[in-house]
Amino acid sequence: MGGCFSKPKPVEVKIEVVIPEKERSKEEMSPNGKASPLVYKVNGTARHYHLEEHPIASNPYHNPKDVVEASVCHVKDLENGQMREVDLGCGKALLIKEGGEFYAMGHKCPHYGAPLVKGVLSKGRVRCPWHGACFNIGTGDIEDFPGLDSLPRFQVKIEKEKVYIRASKQALQTQRRTKMMAKCISLSNYNLSSTNVLIIGAGAAGLVCAETLRQEGFSDRIVMCTMDRHLPYDRPKLSKSMDSHPEQIALRPKEFFRTYDIEVLTEMQAAAVDIKNKTAVFKDGFKMEYNKLLIATGNTPKALSCKGKEVENVFNIRTPEDANRVVKLATSKNVVIVGASFLGMEVAAYLTERAHSVSVVELEEVPFKKFFGERVGRAVMKVTLLSCPGIGFGEMSGFCWFQ
Ligand code: FES
Repeated sequence: MGGCFSKPKPVEVKIEVVIPEKERSKEEMSPNGKASPLVYKVNGTARHYHLEEHPIASNPYHNPKDVVEASVCHVKDLENGQMREVDLGCGKALLIKEGGEFYAMGHKCPHYGAPLVKGVLSKGRVRCPWHGACFNIGTGDIEDFPGLDSLPRFQVKIEKEKVYIRASKQALQTQRRTKMMAKCISLSNYNLSSTNVLIIGAGAAGLVCAETLRQEGFSDRIVMCTMDRHLPYDRPKLSKSMDSHPEQIALRPKEFFRTYDIEVLTEMQAAAVDIKNKTAVFKDGFKMEYNKLLIATGNTPKALSCKGKEVENVFNIRTPEDANRVVKLATSKNVVIVGASFLGMEVAAYLTERAHSVSVVELEEVPFKKFFGERVGRAVMKVTLLSCPGIGFGEMSGFCWFQ
């Protein structure tokens, strides 16, 4: 039932026989350690959930051929609070010692692949060195974003003062684990224009909300709507990889939304929300009733307000189409970027190899002055000029430097 629609159409309702599980194992628990309830009440009606079978998540050792076991070090090789990458022959794991106990899990952050051994270990959690995602060392569960997936967790045993790790080969290769999730079940009174949960905005925040509900066993209808024409994608990547297609930067593949019954209505702009009557009204007049609403629309780019802003070839970047168009038009041309924020600087770095020249115009004397102060700003500017000689900096109040 989940998927991408440009306009709401009649949707076939899937009905499944649900056998509630009696007990949930530790791996099925939510990140806060609490097991999800077996029954949810929806509009006063009790509904059971069931969890999608996931062989790696539920039982990593289900296939003996997929299992590898290796001695990785002596118990004294690691002090408390230390981490080490260890090789099991067919993939690496992160070995951790804390409070006298050993733990093992995936060594690469599932977000952009940072080496977690360079991160920070503290109070049962490892924080990623690149963007700060946080993983529980006992379960491998992600507990702080960015990123959507958790890490595979591996078994550790000590024998004759040696540390052994037992792991699924497949998990060592993938280095990621998607948590088990419920699906949408029997909706006897299905109505296209009525949903239990409505999420306005289909960025990372909206998607995480939908996924978390399914992870916690929520099995009623979830609808996300977006002005965009694509399924949720990783917008921060637009300034780093400007000629990517939407599918290349998608947060989840199309099948994911189908499998977990998360509906996404694309090109649907919410125009108003009637909180009293729990109804969202869309720009094309379509109305949708909801039980719970999340507004996760994010922000819009701050457009130029100065004279001349309406001239041709001035662009904001918000969608893959915007970024693709800028790359196309900037190739072999002189480019001016207004604003030396992260986004501006990333775009400048990306375009240096394509454009004839890149000039960055900023109100402050150095980039990132407001965030990091002048000293760091100057250092960043120096490094940028050395590593990307095609970039020029100028102050908006003083001068603009065009190469
Ligand atoms: S690579 Fe780890 S949070 Fe981004």
